[in-house]
Formats: sequence, C-alpha cells, structure tokens
Amino acid sequence: MASLRSSVQLLRTAARQGSRSISTRPSARQNAAPILMGVVAAGAAGYSAYKLWDGKRVNLAEAIKTVQEAIPSNTVSAAALPEAQPSVYSQGKDHAVYMWINLKPSTNAREVARVMSKLQKYVDEVCDPSLKDEDDEVLAGVGFGPNFYAQVAGKTKETYVYPHRKGPLGEMPSSAGDVFVHAKCNQVSKLFELAQVILKNLPKESVANYEDIYSFVYRNGRDLSGFIDGTENAADEDDRREVAVEKATGGSYVITQKWLHDLNTINTEKDKTLEGWVGRTRADSVELPRKTITSHVARMTGGNGFNQPKPFQIVRQSMPFGTLGGDAGLFFIGYAASPRNHEFMLDRMVGAGGDGHSDDIMRLTKNVKGTYWYFPGMAELKQLE
Ligand code: HEM
Repeated sequence: MASLRSSVQLLRTAARQGSRSISTRPSARQNAAPILMGVVAAGAAGYSAYKLWDGKRVNLAEAIKTVQEAIPSNTVSAAALPEAQPSVYSQGKDHAVYMWINLKPSTNAREVARVMSKLQKYVDEVCDPSLKDEDDEVLAGVGFGPNFYAQVAGKTKETYVYPHRKGPLGEMPSSAGDVFVHAKCNQVSKLFELAQVILKNLPKESVANYEDIYSFVYRNGRDLSGFIDGTENAADEDDRREVAVEKATGGSYVITQKWLHDLNTINTEKDKTLEGWVGRTRADSVELPRKTITSHVARMTGGNGFNQPKPFQIVRQSMPFGTLGGDAGLFFIGYAASPRNHEFMLDRMVGAGGDGHSDDIMRLTKNVKGTYWYFPGMAELKQLE
C-alpha cells in the first residue's frame, strides 16, 4: 500500500521534472522509469482513492506516457555526496517504529554511541540481508539529542535546540531525548523484534525510560482525521535527498512530535469546517483555491495564495498510531537539511511567525511531546564505533 500511496506523488514529480533541462544526479530519474511503470501498473487495479489526480480523472495510459516523456535521456553524473542513513529520504513502508530513549545521567554516552553505531548489524539480525526482499526489508536510522551528540561527537554544523512553544491553540512541550530510532518495514513484527534487539544491546542500567510507538498506514495514506497526508511531500528520490540531507555531512536534522487526535471533533465537525482548517479537501486532497491564513497549508507554506511558493520544505514521514481504548493520533517526523526549516513551520503554528496567526490544525489534535535530533551521516555514524 505504501508504494501505491506514493505512485501519484511519483507521477506528479516526474511530470514536473519534464520542464527541467538537465539533472546533476542521474540515478533516481533514470531508475524512475521502470519503478514508476511498475507502481502505476500495480496501483491500477482496485486503487480507487487516487483515481483523481489534482482533481482530474487520470487515464492510466496517458499517465504512463507523461512519465516516459518526462524522463530526460541526457542526465549527467555528479560527484558522490556523503551518504545519509537508510531512513532519511527513503519512501515509507506499511509500518514504522519510533523509539525514543532517555538515558540515565550516570550512563557512559560513548558506550551507548558505540552500540547505536551498529544499528545496521541489528537490522541484519532481524532481517537476513541474503534473504531479504522489498517486502520484509527494514530501513532504519538513528538520531541523537543535542547534549548526547555533543558529548560523543562534538559540534554539528548547525545547532538544533527545540524550545518549548506555546500559542493560543495549544502548547508544544519540549521533551528531553538522547537516542531516537526510526525504522520502517512492511512487517510490524520485524520492527518489534528490532526494538528488542536494540534494548538488549544497550549497556545494562543505561536507560532511564523509553517509548516505542508502532505506526500503520491508514486508508492508503490518510491521517486519522481522514485527510491524505503527504500530498505535497517531495516524492522523487533526488528531491527528497536535497530537502532532507546536509550536503557536507550526509546528516539530517529531524523533528519528532507526538500528537493525540480529538476523534470526537474529527467525527462530528462538518467536512467544510475541517477542510477550512487544513486548506485541502478531505476526500481527495485538492488545495482550496481560497483558504484562510490560519489554515494548516497557509501556515506551512508562508501564505494563503493558491499554490503558494514554499520558502522551506521538509521530508515528512509521519504516520498514524494508537488504539481506541488508549490514545491515537499522528507521530510526526520530518527530516531537513537544516533545523531552520522546522523552526519556520513550528513558529507559524503557534502564532510566533511574525503575523500572530496560529494553525487551525491544532483544533483537532494536541501535541504532547516533541524534540529535535541529529541523524548523522553514515561516515559520521561509523566514527562513533
Ligand atoms: C497532527 C498534526 C498534523 C497533521 C494532522 C497534519 C496534516 C497535514 C495535512 C492533511 C496536510 C495536507 C496534505 C499534504 O500536503 O501532506 C499537511 C501538509 C503539510 N504539513 Fe502537516 N500536519 C500536522 C503537523 C505538521 C507539523 C508539526 C508540520 C511541520 C513542523 C507540518 C508540516 C506540513 C507541511 C510542510 C505540509 C505541506 C504544505 C504544502 O506544501 O502545501 N505538519 N499536513
């Protein structure tokens, strides 16, 4: 389902790419053709939620032709950039685990860093690399809180401090955190296993507390509010890398927030009201031509114009989680090449973006936890061994 979910995004990006003259990184676009064909073909049968593309009915043959025409044949190679961890800009899977770990003050941070630098080894333990296929592969990455990373590796290129924010529609508490693992897989049991392996390998008595949240794809990629989440996310691999990865290091600055949804409001408010809060239609995610400055889309893009140019972007990999007996909501996670991208968006959500307006999305959900992490590049992670 996750790949079906992204097929429309891939098509859209591929079509957009057609207007660019030359690519500096050939891989994704060249590789996109067979992948896109496969995704389109696989998605064709019984995938009704995305029959509408930008509000228009899509003819499959025409869509494939658009993709073929959009793939340039004259791409050139660029020097290799430092590698990012596997979770950073890869596409989503059916499930993810978000593992948020706080260490005891007495813990030897270097020892923990050494353990976490072997994350790929633990992944290989739960998913034998010689047998794995796309369906059971695990894509994982590890991030560190600013205090922890300063102790084990020194300074990052940019500082990333997450302040407590408070606005008229709610707060964004700043929660502590030392180590964070984001792992994605189509089989949730593998993620459960991975979380256990990680905890088992951490030094004895090192963990003060932790939370492991297991998420799922809901109705082909919708948030629990019923809105499609991710429509405007960068879809093409090159674009995702550009947005999410710091060029010099391969590192990524990551925001994580736990949001608890008010399902009563979601289930009783009129569609029109909810759509006004988001700035898109609920059924098929069409952008409202006229929207308020307090709508989520207007807050995130910096204005309420239609198709507003975006001053900042992030690669969102958020997913629904929860139970009806307990809490349910969205685990928000976004990757960016700079923490400034997150700052712009968060400030504009809580009325600190300069114009005094807050984000109406906070009328249907409540933020209970949040912080920033640095996901070091692969070479930086290796240095922690
Ligand atoms: C529970 C909280 C949230 C919910 C339910 C939510 C839901 C949505 C939905 C339905 C959309 C429209 C479709 C799309 O383009 O994906 C959207 C767009 C977006 N959201 Fe959120 N979101 C939440 C929190 C956040 C936070 C905390 C941030 C940033 C720190 C954020 C950043 C964005 C961005 C950048 C867009 C794309 C705007 C555009 O380019 O049109 N969202 N979100």
